Amino acid sequence: MNLKESIESVRNNFRTDSDPFPSDSKSIESLYIKYLGRKGIVADLFNQLKDVSNKDRPEIGKSLNQLKNEISKSFSSVVNDSSELDNIQEDLTLPGLKFPTGRIHPLQQTMNDIKSIFMNVGFSIAYGPEVDDDFHNFGALNFPPEHPARDMQDTFFIDSDTMLRTHTSNVQIHLMENQNPPLRYIVPGRVYRNEAISFKSYCLFHQVEGIYVDKNVSFADHKGILEYFVKRMFGEKTKMRFRPSFFPFTEPSAEVDIWSEKRGQWLEILGSGMVDPEVFKSVDIDPEIWHGFAFGMGVERICMLKYGIDDIRLLYQGDMRFLEQF
Ligand code: PHE
Repeated sequence: MNLKESIESVRNNFRTDSDPFPSDSKSIESLYIKYLGRKGIVADLFNQLKDVSNKDRPEIGKSLNQLKNEISKSFSSVVNDSSELDNIQEDLTLPGLKFPTGRIHPLQQTMNDIKSIFMNVGFSIAYGPEVDDDFHNFGALNFPPEHPARDMQDTFFIDSDTMLRTHTSNVQIHLMENQNPPLRYIVPGRVYRNEAISFKSYCLFHQVEGIYVDKNVSFADHKGILEYFVKRMFGEKTKMRFRPSFFPFTEPSAEVDIWSEKRGQWLEILGSGMVDPEVFKSVDIDPEIWHGFAFGMGVERICMLKYGIDDIRLLYQGDMRFLEQF
């Protein structure tokens, strides 16, 4: 008997064996194993296919597949309405599937916290350009022409008058140019500095600028607001200090440090001060009437302190092993 004839005879045998189709699951199973099992009749026919001539193999292979499908089909119709097999249920004790959820990046989370702390005491949010001219980034902020920050080493220049902003203080100028005081804003945004990349500095980072201009604003107001911020951000018991400092656009100027118990040292988190009268003059605001304070904080710095992160680059690498911890 050649393979073609064997296929026909297996077809006939199956018809006889399956009429009537067995009704208990045991006989259904043994019928299945006899024909479709790993060592069953159909598998055996497939084994013989290799001895068929190349010329006949496609056609015989096709009718063998057909036979296999026919036989499988007669089982599937029975298995589907056999109440016994229907009783096989899913194992409800298995743990469920885990769907990974997205989460907020720690830097964004820090930014959101800063925003909401200041919005609670009446600050609004403003944004400004990341590409700006010398006047807004330096000149109006009272940087003298030879100031080292104006050097290529620190600033990414696009042409001699255009640059990536080195701080968010440029937006102080835009805000005061465009509206009359009183004003009370915070300005979150990206800033750029041409620095060597290391665990503590990156060529791109984030700042939140603050600017408060009104009549009768004193250094005490400035201190009060920043103290409120630090306690809300890092906890009521946080130790902080104002350290005299210098910025061309504030007078007097101060830097704020907080005490890190873990490292046993003071860490700087922001620069601040009373708006310099020269800055008011450059935007046509009368410094005899209006006073104000400004501050600028590094968001990465604050984020790293808050969450105990010791390498700024982790915030920019998108490594899931790091991000999943937040
Ligand atoms: N722009 C300053 C910096 O980048 C911070 C600052 C902002 C200081 C506002 C005083 C007032 O270091």
